[in-house]
Amino acid sequence: MEHEHNKNNWSSQLGFLLAAAGSSIGLGNIWRFPYMTGTNGGGIFVLIYFLVVLLIGVPLMMAEISLGRAAGANPVRAFAHLTPAKSGFTVFTASMLLLGALFMLLTGNPAGALIVGLIGALFLACGWKTVGFFCGLVPIILLSYYGVIGGWTLVYIVDSIRGVNGFTTIEGAEKVMQPILHATGHWKWIVIGGQLAFMAACLGISLAGVQKGIERWSKVLMPLLFILMCVLIVRGLTLPGAMKGIRFFLEPDVSKITGGSVIAAVGQAFFTLSLGMGIMLTYGSYLDRKSDITKATLGVIGLDTLAAVMAGIAIFPAVFAMGFAPSSGPDLTFKVLPAAFNMIPGGMGVIWNVLFFLMLAIAALTSAISLIEPPASILVGEFRMSRKAAVLLVVLVCSVLGVFCALSMADWINLPAIGRAVGKIWYGKAPGSFFEMLDSFCCNWILPMLGLATTIYVGWVWGSRYALKELREGSSGFLDNSIWLLLAGFKAKDGGKDRRYLLTPGILWGVALRWICPLLVLLAFFNCIGIIKF
Ligand code: PHE
Repeated sequence: MEHEHNKNNWSSQLGFLLAAAGSSIGLGNIWRFPYMTGTNGGGIFVLIYFLVVLLIGVPLMMAEISLGRAAGANPVRAFAHLTPAKSGFTVFTASMLLLGALFMLLTGNPAGALIVGLIGALFLACGWKTVGFFCGLVPIILLSYYGVIGGWTLVYIVDSIRGVNGFTTIEGAEKVMQPILHATGHWKWIVIGGQLAFMAACLGISLAGVQKGIERWSKVLMPLLFILMCVLIVRGLTLPGAMKGIRFFLEPDVSKITGGSVIAAVGQAFFTLSLGMGIMLTYGSYLDRKSDITKATLGVIGLDTLAAVMAGIAIFPAVFAMGFAPSSGPDLTFKVLPAAFNMIPGGMGVIWNVLFFLMLAIAALTSAISLIEPPASILVGEFRMSRKAAVLLVVLVCSVLGVFCALSMADWINLPAIGRAVGKIWYGKAPGSFFEMLDSFCCNWILPMLGLATTIYVGWVWGSRYALKELREGSSGFLDNSIWLLLAGFKAKDGGKDRRYLLTPGILWGVALRWICPLLVLLAFFNCIGIIKF
């Protein structure tokens, strides 16, 4: 099979590992995971999350990487290269989608009907390639608002240095954050400036290429990220009262566990591991056949989980020691935490804030550059563009869309006409902002759908046995060893080569991919869109 990306291969398995870890470790680890854990039962939620990561995260990431490497091509090509793109199954699915659209139209949901109808029509015309198209589209949408938050981190770094962010109360924090969130007055230009600066940094790294840009920068930035986290952890844990924070974060509280916690863990796993939008697929297509996909996957997921837990240990001790109550998402990171850092005696608040927002900026940057890759590789592979032109085009589109997001992260005040139009389509229940609209469209609808499509494609259509063959390349026989022998710490004499064991990691992987992943993802999806409620 010819590899269209030969020029772009990673220089080593370590390079791939760090780049993929860079993609997965991002805002999801630093602002999403810690709070979700704190409010969903602490240590118990961490356990549930580990389980979900093992059951869905590991199999799906292995599937995506192996699909990418086997096809050696961009997402659109990958979904058409290993099997025919169209079949009876795709026609059936497309018909179901079109019927669903008709139903939505008749029940008075034209916006939903339009979206589902379009997807159905695309599926009818292009089959599995549709999944590839969405792998090109979704990262563009995500990157447009990811870039805005990346921009905020830069604004905060500059403002902390300038001494503007010296607030020590939540009210003080509101005063700083409100104009940024609502992009009012001259803050509009500052927010857009930050967003464009962040996008420019992404552009610079991506233009330099896979090996000389993404890989090289990941090798510098990822260790730096972990060093910064360690510094913040030491600072937080040495504050009097730090243990209260750790208790909020990790103390098991079974009463807070609900069915919803499991679903929350599924959504979190998808987002934080960058799954379901062709990123790992594209990164996998740059991977050589000597690399061990299983080992790399376990490495990426291990680092991602470590980063999430470390982020919680870095954040909550400082928040609780300074007597603040934790809040969620942007509020926690952009209001509560900086105020807590400023309260730390010794007057070093500026330093802690700069270090923290630098860490956040780095995490966001290495995730953002991975979002450029699937659309860029599609433009290169399917539209014969040069890599430079493709990267430029993607960043340009994301920057322009991002300006709209920057102006409407909180409401439609800056974009009244668009707000009204969206309101009409949504029949008056317009999502609160442009940002919210894109965010819910991507994370609640498209991500689980694409994840589901990927598991079905790899598990059933391409076939888990072919995927396993791909996984075996570069692997030392771990996948075919007996689980019992592995658990007992023995080694099969033949390294498992004769494949006669009944319970091997490879077999478990196949079962998880074909049955457990699709079922859990479907449950999460239905829960997200409100068909069932846990
Ligand atoms: N994984 C990133 C995070 O945790 C977010 C992300 C999602 C990045 C999808 C790229 C693709 O923040």
